[in-house]
Amino acid sequence: MKIAVVGTGYVGLVTGTCLAETGNQVICVDINAEKVKMMQDGKLPIYEPGLDILFHRNIGQGRLHFTTNLGEAIEEAQIIFLALPTPPGGDGSADLSYVLGAAKDIGKLIKDYKVVVTKSTVPVGTADKVRAAMDSQTKVPFDVVSNPEFLREGVAVEDFMKPDRVVIGTTSERARKIMGELYAPYVRQGNPVIFMDERSSELTKYAANSFLATKITFMNEVANLCELVGADVDMVRKGIGSDERIGRRFLFPGVGYGGSCFPKDVQALVKSADENQYNFKILNSVIEVNETQKKILFEKVKKYFDGELAGKKFALWGLAFKPETDDVREAPALYIIDELINAGATVTAFDPEGMDNVRKMIGTKISYAADPYSALHNADALLIVTEWSLFRNPDFDQVAKLLKNKVIFDGRNLYDLQKMLDCGFYYNSIGRKIVTKEGADENVASGS
Ligand code: UDX
Repeated sequence: MKIAVVGTGYVGLVTGTCLAETGNQVICVDINAEKVKMMQDGKLPIYEPGLDILFHRNIGQGRLHFTTNLGEAIEEAQIIFLALPTPPGGDGSADLSYVLGAAKDIGKLIKDYKVVVTKSTVPVGTADKVRAAMDSQTKVPFDVVSNPEFLREGVAVEDFMKPDRVVIGTTSERARKIMGELYAPYVRQGNPVIFMDERSSELTKYAANSFLATKITFMNEVANLCELVGADVDMVRKGIGSDERIGRRFLFPGVGYGGSCFPKDVQALVKSADENQYNFKILNSVIEVNETQKKILFEKVKKYFDGELAGKKFALWGLAFKPETDDVREAPALYIIDELINAGATVTAFDPEGMDNVRKMIGTKISYAADPYSALHNADALLIVTEWSLFRNPDFDQVAKLLKNKVIFDGRNLYDLQKMLDCGFYYNSIGRKIVTKEGADENVASGS
């Protein structure tokens, strides 16, 4: 099939590349000429494991092209994907100006039937707005389809090539058939393509992300309670996760959820509910708890040093909101850094992929280390914020030697408590007993 993808952000680029991989002809279009030139020259503007292989293969075999010209991109395309940003507006609702602007432009340009697919995460009712925007510009027939993406950063290629499910929202038989054919190669293993109306499809995306954010937030609160009652959240997690109705995944407590999707989508669903005079109480609590959780590591540090943080030096491992990405949007590390700097401390950070992006945002507010160990020199404590594999099994003798104090605050529960005890560290993690030199016996209320 011939496909155009409008917007070459994270979703657009993964979608375009993975659609080319099954033999489709794909043109990706973007208004950013510099970025388009870069991609035409075979350079990937984002870091995503496994994407580079597919990107180069499909460019090399002539199935993946890039342009700044929307007219050229959509001329021969049967399907046009809209993968444009929907940033949160001032009031938390998704800003649709990019999506609706593109819909109008496409309306002006089309000469024959097209399926226009919203891939961006958009509020319920957007398909109708896209349809109206195009209708105002053309008499040519078209269908608008909602097809939300469920990609996780870091494993996006795998998620696209072998999705758990594909959701397609359309009431048009013609569009349904085209979309069904397009996705057939991706669901050969038997995973479902679920057809529904546009509004249900749009809501499915928000409901999925908000449910997952709620699941994590629930575990963060269980972890906080574990610390107060002397329980171990790792045990509780295993205990409840083996119930298939709960499931093992997304039960890991930590420093709060971040990234480009969960914070934005939970906010937007609350806003949509508000607009329909419905108070989505549980999600309001999720937002509130997550705000507190993002600062939990800082609160632990503050408590340990009796509020005396001025002049102290902290090493920070992990800036990206999660491993295997350079994305630092809404990353808990940024909140922790802010609090430490405001309290008069200095921070030296290391992250395998996220440092350039943080440097662009906060510049020299913190120092950046060339490797995990050089961040530790003379630091009063080590804070672990992202669970990169590189941090999972460090040389603890080296860590102990380089740090001024043998003190670790771990926001991702990477280490075994006994191991920390044996190595002689003070070790404070999430929802588990605090390891002190005297033994793993100190229970301290977190965030209190
Ligand atoms: C998410 C959804 O998973 C994906 O389906 C959707 O398309 C986009 O949003 P992503 O933001 O890439 O994907 O990351 P994900 O792996 O889901 O993690 C989101 C956040 O939750 C991260 O900050 C992560 O650290 C946190 N998290 C996740 C936990 O704190 N505990 C967990 O058990 C799982």
